[in-house]
Amino acid sequence: MRIINSLSEMQHYVQEQKKQGLSIGFVPTMGYLHEGHLQLMDAAREENDLLVASIFVNPLQFGPNEDFEQYPRDEEEDIRKARERGVDVLFFPHVHDMYPSSLSIVMKVERRADVLCGRSREGHFDGVVTVLAKLFHLVQPNKAYFGNKDAQQVAVVDALIEDYNFPIELRALNTVREKDGLAKSSRNVYLSKEEREEAPYIYEALHYGKRRLQEEHVSSRQVKDEVSRFITSHTRGKIDYVDILSYPQLERVEEYSGQIIIAAAVYFSKARLIDNIIFEVR
Ligand code: PAJ
Repeated sequence: MRIINSLSEMQHYVQEQKKQGLSIGFVPTMGYLHEGHLQLMDAAREENDLLVASIFVNPLQFGPNEDFEQYPRDEEEDIRKARERGVDVLFFPHVHDMYPSSLSIVMKVERRADVLCGRSREGHFDGVVTVLAKLFHLVQPNKAYFGNKDAQQVAVVDALIEDYNFPIELRALNTVREKDGLAKSSRNVYLSKEEREEAPYIYEALHYGKRRLQEEHVSSRQVKDEVSRFITSHTRGKIDYVDILSYPQLERVEEYSGQIIIAAAVYFSKARLIDNIIFEVR
């Protein structure tokens, strides 16, 4: 496995591989790798000649009061896991190379970002699309791999690829969970023992909500209230949002049909957890 820090070395590598007609699968991450990230790498390994993964904790997508400084990092362990999963190139750019000064041109997400995490994390998705536009240019992947754990991110990346004509196939994979249902997340290490025991109730609550939505004569308001109550009665977490929207458009609709998402975000003392279920209703 080759580790590349320099942007120009990354570009040069890609050019050489493209000349030989090799396809590139790309897994962008912020590191502290777990099974959620690794399954994306497995899929990319399977479907492409080359597998490029990136580790970059992107300051632009963290708000001023968020956990950029505290975001968990473990370079050595990440390198070991990536190597084990057959990554060809691990791209580790430095912040001062990615953002030498403030950008002269900024990207702003107009749709799909005024709900869910986009609403409570102002500017977050602007930071996500900015870094991904840069990474997509540097890595020039044929396919890029994302997890549905961050379903709103998938919806926004889908729009980025479409609106800005990136010749990239978006691959979205299912959420990888702990045995008790909790979605794997780098931030789970910040849960206290009690919070860790309570956290799987978020997924259970979403499941309950999904079942309720499939019944007749039940309003989404009612289901949202019930899911919120389910979470607050089983955990000490504070609800950021519980919402039900069309997917991937992320619009509020009266009558649900087609794909919908039920999603929640919950604050615990040192971590904010998110989870969702995407499903089809008739
Ligand atoms: P990060 O949180 O490190 O996640 C990298 C990728 O792993 C994302 O596509 C995310 O959805 C996926 N992922 C995380 N946990 C998962 C789980 N339990 N199951 C399945 N997939 C999971 O998302 C980011 O980084 C950043 O926003 C990034 C896209 C790298 C841009 O900076």
